[in-house]
Amino acid sequence: MSGEWFESVAEAHRRARRRLPKSVYGALVAGTEQGLTLRDNIGAFGELGFAPHVAGLPGQRELSTSVLGQEISLPVLISPTGVQAVHPEGEVAVARGAAMADTAMGLSAFGSKPVEDVVAANPRTFFQTYWVGDREEILARSQRAKQAGAKGLIITLDWTFSHGRDWGSPPIPEKMDLRALLRFAPEGLVRPRYVLAFLRSGGLPDLIVPNVGGPGRPAPTFFGAYGQWMHTPLPSWSDLGWLREQWDGPFVVKGITRPDDARRAVDIGATAISVSNHGGNNLDSTPASIRMLPGIVDAVGDQIEILLDGGIRRGGDVVKALALGARAVMIGRAYLWGLAANGDAGVKNVFDILRSGIDSALLGLGKASVHDLGREDVIIPEGFTRTAASAAYS
Ligand SMILES: Cc1cc2nc3c(=O)[nH]c(=O)nc-3n(C[C@H](O)[C@H](O)[C@H](O)COP(=O)(O)O)c2cc1C
Repeated sequence: MSGEWFESVAEAHRRARRRLPKSVYGALVAGTEQGLTLRDNIGAFGELGFAPHVAGLPGQRELSTSVLGQEISLPVLISPTGVQAVHPEGEVAVARGAAMADTAMGLSAFGSKPVEDVVAANPRTFFQTYWVGDREEILARSQRAKQAGAKGLIITLDWTFSHGRDWGSPPIPEKMDLRALLRFAPEGLVRPRYVLAFLRSGGLPDLIVPNVGGPGRPAPTFFGAYGQWMHTPLPSWSDLGWLREQWDGPFVVKGITRPDDARRAVDIGATAISVSNHGGNNLDSTPASIRMLPGIVDAVGDQIEILLDGGIRRGGDVVKALALGARAVMIGRAYLWGLAANGDAGVKNVFDILRSGIDSALLGLGKASVHDLGREDVIIPEGFTRTAASAAYS
């Protein structure tokens, strides 16, 4: 085993903290306000129990499944994350790491690498966008992804522009100009390995988002795109229905926490939803996504593919989510830590950890396949789940 190999996501996290400049690390930890949701996403998995069998266990376990029409070797895929600045190869390295693990990639429109390069590294790429710009722009962005070969479109809706962290938000420069260089120099000096890796590959992160913009409109900076987003009128369900009609292929609504919204996603013809609270980066006090999952599965589980993201740090978490009705899960910070720790191999390493954790949990539960999991496989403490009351539904 190479010295770069790590045996847990917790270890990848420690290495990321040691290797990344403080501001970059802080931007990945993120979480809004008190971090209640951020902590609950992880803590809630710890409340669910296993009661392993000891004999008559399956000699082999099946982990592969299909999501949005793509076969994947384990029920885990990459959740899109924007402005990584974690590694010079960014999303291309993530895509490659996911391909090495034989699974799919989610690319954020706010990512740092062109969709064409990411699809080349992993043909099972789903492209994610926010509702930024007018319909024409959103369509042009999606069509570019389609032409590049993206296998599905993810529209992420859970963003309330809430900001402010009780522990302080890290400064992020608009662009890496001389002034920013001077400001961030002390951070870079204590993380020379990070700086050298970027310099060797042609320069410091430029914080440009190449998948936003389009013909005649140069790619904006992250803050330029964010500003445009803040000024874009918010989408209605009929806007989303329009986008769904334009996109010929699998369509995912990401950020669902309520059964009524899940039903609306079904109504517009979405292929899948992700039960998600943006990794605790949206409205603080939203309960952990795993607590919201059962109510949503009960409402629409037989009508749409249900994914979950938020707080997945080990294979046992994946098994718990599947037992509560998710078809597969998406990971965010876990692969970002892996990427920081060891590039594409670190991303693959994270998938390997999850794969062996899923396999162990299946073994203990006496299940030969991820498809055989059900609620009876976990001990759910009383009061664990949370289900939002249905708002008037029209
Ligand atoms: C640094 C960071 C950036 C993110 N950027 C995006 C994004 O651009 N689009 C999106 O849909 N979700 C984004 N997310 C949310 C993730 O896709 C995912 O929902 C979340 O990270 C899952 O929680 P976890 O990190 O605990 O696995 C981001 C999350 C983080 C931590």
